[in-house]
Amino acid sequence: MSNVMGWPVGQIREALAAHLPGFRVEVLTQVDSTNSELMRRARNGQMEPVLLVAEQQTAGRGRLGRQWFSGEGESLGAIPSLTFSLGLPLSPRDWSGLSLAVGLSVVQSLHPELRLKWPNDVWWHARKLAGILIETASFGENRYAVVGVGVNIKPRASTGLATPAAWLEEVLPALDASQALLRIAAPLLQTIKTFEQHGFALFQARFAERDALRGLSVALSDGRVGVAQGVDGTGALRLHTAHGPQTITSAEVSVRPLSPPSLAAL
Ligand code: BTN
Repeated sequence: MSNVMGWPVGQIREALAAHLPGFRVEVLTQVDSTNSELMRRARNGQMEPVLLVAEQQTAGRGRLGRQWFSGEGESLGAIPSLTFSLGLPLSPRDWSGLSLAVGLSVVQSLHPELRLKWPNDVWWHARKLAGILIETASFGENRYAVVGVGVNIKPRASTGLATPAAWLEEVLPALDASQALLRIAAPLLQTIKTFEQHGFALFQARFAERDALRGLSVALSDGRVGVAQGVDGTGALRLHTAHGPQTITSAEVSVRPLSPPSLAAL
């Protein structure tokens, strides 16, 4: 079994190959962003399925143009954050809900008490443990998807974060970044391939079981407020507002719970 600096590369490759033969697994000590790197490669014609892990990102990116900070670690055991991207050609009939299905896969691989904050933040008791950034591009007839995942492993400061941080060490102290990746990678690929065939509807009920916002009063970054009422079969957030029911599909808005949860905000 090959092993790059303690990463169980061979084991992960084998597990991935069960769902998609020929998957490459690559670990870099440093890169600007695993998502950016895979998109650069795709633009240069490299669209083969690959799992790219970075021990350190110098310009990690989050949703809505935000930055993703990982902290600094000196050795694998001390890596503060698991950062990786899966890149692969993908052609679902409908892309809506992919990020929710990905988030669901991550929480199911890690811990029964983890929750999802729409659309795809992973929460541990209302603190953010992990984030997901999905990007797609078309090259001629082919559509390429990059699914990026960042999981806090070690304690980190919450300074400047909209949601205080959580880290895996407090949830599963025995799991370092490499073991977390081993748990997450293959089920994640399986989820993506299942999504490609069947869409989000198949995941809707399981998302509901992990939905952190359901029943809470929430505020959207575009100024709307309402009570979150779960997600529909396309992954859109259902909101009960003073102007009636609304569905939120835009990936361009962020949502935060209002505390204390109350209908008075409507
Ligand atoms: C978010 O919460 O806004 C999404 C964060 C996604 C971070 C991951 S880390 C691996 C991949 N590379 C990036 O630059 N971003 C994603």
